[in-house]
Amino acid sequence: MSEVLAETTAAASTKLDGINLAESERFSNETILPLFEKMRAETPVQYCEESTYGPFWSITKYHDIMSVDKDHQNFSSDADFGGITIDDGLVRDEDNDFFIKSFITMDPPEHGPQRKAVNKIVTPGSLSNFEDLIRGRTQKLLDSLPIGEEFDWVDKVSIELTTQMLATLFDFPFEDRRKLTRWSDVTTAEAGSPIVGSQEQRVAELRECLEYFTKLKNERRNGPDNFDLVTMLAKDAATADQPAHEFLGNLVLLIVGGNDTTRNTMSGSINAFNQFPDQLDKLREKPELLSNMVSEVIRWQTPLAHMRRTAVADTIVGGRKISKGDKVVMWYYSGNRDEEVFENANDFDIERANARHNISFGFGIHRCLGMRLAELQMRILWSEILKRWQRVELTGEPERLASNFVNGYTKMPVKIIP
Ligand code: HEM
Repeated sequence: MSEVLAETTAAASTKLDGINLAESERFSNETILPLFEKMRAETPVQYCEESTYGPFWSITKYHDIMSVDKDHQNFSSDADFGGITIDDGLVRDEDNDFFIKSFITMDPPEHGPQRKAVNKIVTPGSLSNFEDLIRGRTQKLLDSLPIGEEFDWVDKVSIELTTQMLATLFDFPFEDRRKLTRWSDVTTAEAGSPIVGSQEQRVAELRECLEYFTKLKNERRNGPDNFDLVTMLAKDAATADQPAHEFLGNLVLLIVGGNDTTRNTMSGSINAFNQFPDQLDKLREKPELLSNMVSEVIRWQTPLAHMRRTAVADTIVGGRKISKGDKVVMWYYSGNRDEEVFENANDFDIERANARHNISFGFGIHRCLGMRLAELQMRILWSEILKRWQRVELTGEPERLASNFVNGYTKMPVKIIP
């Protein structure tokens, strides 16, 4: 290490080392945000030596996160090292003979060709073809909701709309679409959580997912060149003959990518407008703020709280030395509340000039593939809400998911005020 780097390392604060930011309850009881704030101010690159996930680094400031995210040479996403979540068990469990790998848990040169195999589903042309379908379905669903009566927004709207979209992307049998919701939940839930009782159960359910999709893949392999994700995976040279653990990996990546995230953005928008009701008046006055509002919801909510990497060389981040083999967690939820980048970062402000610079979709080669689709779904949802109702009012406290990865809601009781 150069002398300059050694000095910087010595100067960096280690004051709050030892605290385990990843305890899931901190996310469900919302104590995580003040803790992130303290961390950004006092120990922005922090080391926790002991946790159920083993030792790990927490990166909490926007620019440090971006520097790690963009540096795929030094920070690997590979499933062989544990992948992109703090919990290695989500990709590997030797006791249950379970291992999955997808293109989000691959480094170059493997990553690029597999991403390319499905990328055409989200090109501007493809999205504009989907637009009428998404609008029609959104209109139909909103028109079916009870007015003035309490119901659960998460189940009736957020889950239903995102699951319908996903069924379309895969050309998945529509009547079975809630299977996709279940596989999405099971993929990101830790074993022993309320969602999935044990690792054995997780593995069994994901095997069912593989079996179901393998049938579809075999049917489509020699069929017409239809425009759906299963056909794309079945026919592209990079993915057609991939082993089962990679096919399953890519499936659950696309299922979770298209489901949990957009779902919690939809629910997050209801929460945000209830906490900041003046912003809804502003949106009504200036409907041209719709796109910026969507970016601001995505910043404020941060549907995925973190992405993880593994250092493959000794490096320096924020003045601290990270050693080869260390687990590094980029807390996007914290980066999005960094006051050095976002003024009054805890406020939901639909006129925020740099809302689009949110870090929720990541940066670098793994930057979210579906971001434009998620934004489109959100714009359509809110343009249709504005046409119909005065507001969607929370009738009780939303229930939050106990997860350090998916930052979202399990229930959100609401009433429509027409
Ligand atoms: C608001 C909604 C969404 C959020 C917040 C979100 C967030 C993310 C994040 C944080 C990453 C990793 C970025 C990184 O490591 O630098 C990612 C990757 C990805 N997302 Fe999304 N996502 C959303 C919607 C979607 C949708 C709708 C889809 C699919 C239809 C999707 C598919 C993917 C895929 C396939 C990747 C892996 C890309 C790669 O490894 O090259 N996402 N997303």
